Amino acid sequence: MSDALKDYVNFCQQRAEAALADRLPNAGILPQKLHEAMRYSVLNGGKRMRPMLTYCTGNTLGLSPEILDGPACAVEFIHVYSLIHDDLPAMDDDDLRRGKPTCHVAFDEATAILAGDALQALAFETLAHDASMSADAEARLQMITILAKASGSQGMVGGQAIDLASVGQKITLPELENMHIHKTGALIRASVNLATLAKPDIDPELAKKLDRYAKCIGLSFQVKDDILDEESDTATLGKTQGKDKSNDKPTYPALLGLSGAKAKALELHEQALESLAVFGPEADLLRDLSLYIIQRDH
Ligand code: IPE
Ligand code: IPE
Ligand code: MG
Ligand code: MG
Ligand code: MG
Repeated sequence: MSDALKDYVNFCQQRAEAALADRLPNAGILPQKLHEAMRYSVLNGGKRMRPMLTYCTGNTLGLSPEILDGPACAVEFIHVYSLIHDDLPAMDDDDLRRGKPTCHVAFDEATAILAGDALQALAFETLAHDASMSADAEARLQMITILAKASGSQGMVGGQAIDLASVGQKITLPELENMHIHKTGALIRASVNLATLAKPDIDPELAKKLDRYAKCIGLSFQVKDDILDEESDTATLGKTQGKDKSNDKPTYPALLGLSGAKAKALELHEQALESLAVFGPEADLLRDLSLYIIQRDH
C-alpha cells in the first residue's frame, strides 16, 4: 500500500468509526438488546471499504468529508445488515465475523434478524434526515433511490438469492459474474455514486467514468473475497477460511482456478484504471484503492 493511501485509509477509518458510533442508537435506549446487537455488529473493526470509497470519490471531486458522513454511514449500515443476515444459519451459517462471534451467536437468531432490519431502516433514515449533509431534498431523493436499488431484489438481496440458489450447482462464468455484480458490486457502486450525487454541478461524463470505475472494483472486490476464502487463514480473515468450499458455493477460483481468478482481478483493476484516465492526480487515491482491493490480505 502506498504511504499516501495508508494515511488516507487511517483517516477514513477513524472518521467512519466516529460517524457510525454517533448515528447508532445508544445501547442504553430500549430495546437495549437490539441496540446492543446493532452496535456490536457495526462497531467491530470492519475495513470500512464502502465509506472509504464514498469519502475518496468525494475527495477526487473536491468535496469535504463532513458532507459525506451521512452517505458513508448509510452504505456501511446496509453492508453490516447484509453481513449479519449472510451469516445466519439459513444462509452461510458462519460463527465468526470480523474476528468475533457472529451476531446470531453472540445474541440470538431473532435479534440478529431484527438488528439487520433496523440497520437497513437506519440507512435510509440517515440519507433522508442527516443534518451534516448539504444535499437538498432532490439530491437526497436520488441518493435514497440509488441505495434502495443497490440494496434490493435487483441489487444485493437479488445477488444473495442467486448465491443461495447456486449452492451445489454448476453455473457458467457469466452467471457467476452476474451473481457477484449483484451481491457485492451493487453496494460498492452505490458507495461511489452517493458521493457523485453530493456534487450538484458534476459533469455527467465524469460521473459516468466514476460509475464505470466502481463497477470494475465492485466485481474485483468479490473476486478477491473468493480468492482469500481459498488461500488465506481464519485468523487473518477474521472469518472462517474455506467456507465457500465447505458450503459448495460457486466462486471464481472454483471456476477459473486460483491463477485464473487472480488474472481476472488484475484485469478488472486495469479496467478500473482506464475508467479514471480522464482524471489527473486528484484520482490517485482511487487508483491506489483499486490496487489495494486486489492485493489486500483480508
Ligand atoms: C465482506 O465484505 C463481504 C463481501 C461483500 C465480500 P468486507 O470484506 O468489506 O467486510 P468488512 O466490512 O471488512 O468486515
Ligand atoms: C457476501 O458474500 C455478500 C454479501 C452481500 C454479504 P460472502 O458470503 O462471500 O461474504 P463473506 O465471505 O461471508 O464475508
Ligand atoms: Mg454469502
Ligand atoms: Mg458469507
Ligand atoms: Mg466470501
